[in-house]
Amino acid sequence: MSRTVYLNGGYMAEESAKVSIFDRGFLLADAVYEVTSVLNGKLLDFDGHMERLKRSLGELDFRFEVNRDELLKVQLELVRLNEIDEGIVYLQITRGVCDRSFKFPDAGVQPTILMFTQHRTALNPADPETGIRVISTEDLRWGRRDIKTVQLLFPSMAKMQAVRAGADDAFLVQDGEVTEGTAYNAYIVTKNGTIVTRQLSTDILHGITRATMLRYAREAQMQVEERPFTIEEAKSAAEAFITSASNYVMPVVEIDGVKLGDGRPGPVSRRLRELYIEESLKTAI
Ligand code: PDD
Repeated sequence: MSRTVYLNGGYMAEESAKVSIFDRGFLLADAVYEVTSVLNGKLLDFDGHMERLKRSLGELDFRFEVNRDELLKVQLELVRLNEIDEGIVYLQITRGVCDRSFKFPDAGVQPTILMFTQHRTALNPADPETGIRVISTEDLRWGRRDIKTVQLLFPSMAKMQAVRAGADDAFLVQDGEVTEGTAYNAYIVTKNGTIVTRQLSTDILHGITRATMLRYAREAQMQVEERPFTIEEAKSAAEAFITSASNYVMPVVEIDGVKLGDGRPGPVSRRLRELYIEESLKTAI
């Protein structure tokens, strides 16, 4: 079934949405994006995603004013038109269309903005009842991973390396320490129940699900430590899990072939998933 998508101010059938071959998003990956979860037909953490979008645009000197109310209207309209009960809304803004050059275009070039929806089933979601198995691989991405750009070739290659190895996904490792995953933040739970995740810096994306989930965890009096952890510490942890807009909280049951605990999703990961979904729905719009 053809979706209705949004491009540069208009709604149209996906087949009709065309972008120039000179778009800098296409030629130079000069573009930022956001993925917002839809659950029960509502957007989770919409304002968090808008704040991060503004930050990404600012860090890259984009000339684009984020109009929160307008973007919200479009996202809700796409959810309605495409009858999304559970899935995501994808938003991308590129620097626009101009002759190929490393130099940014002069004022007057309009950014390209597009949005589309995906049903949850199209995202190949993992099963939270079984959790996922990951491999580890060296993190070879650029040094500004805090900016949500569409330069996703390395994460895509790491994902394929995992799939070829018979796993679901990959943890990325720098100097022996886990930064994050291909498209999610990474966590372990120590034997005494402390949730550990790498602190925010330019090394990782500042996950919106991460921020919300950690807030709920702290409110529930769970212990949280924001510090680096090694891949070896992860393999001997009681539990591990990931967070992202497309996975919420998803247990990790195996790392590089080493089973965590009894190889099934652990109680802390399960509780955090429930907590995240339950609490987020209360503020969904
Ligand atoms: N990925 N780290 C990376 C590298 C990511 O690409 C993502 C999100 C996250 C989690 O961020 P958030 O909780 O805000 O979704 C962390 C999205 C979902 C994607 O690329 O599809």
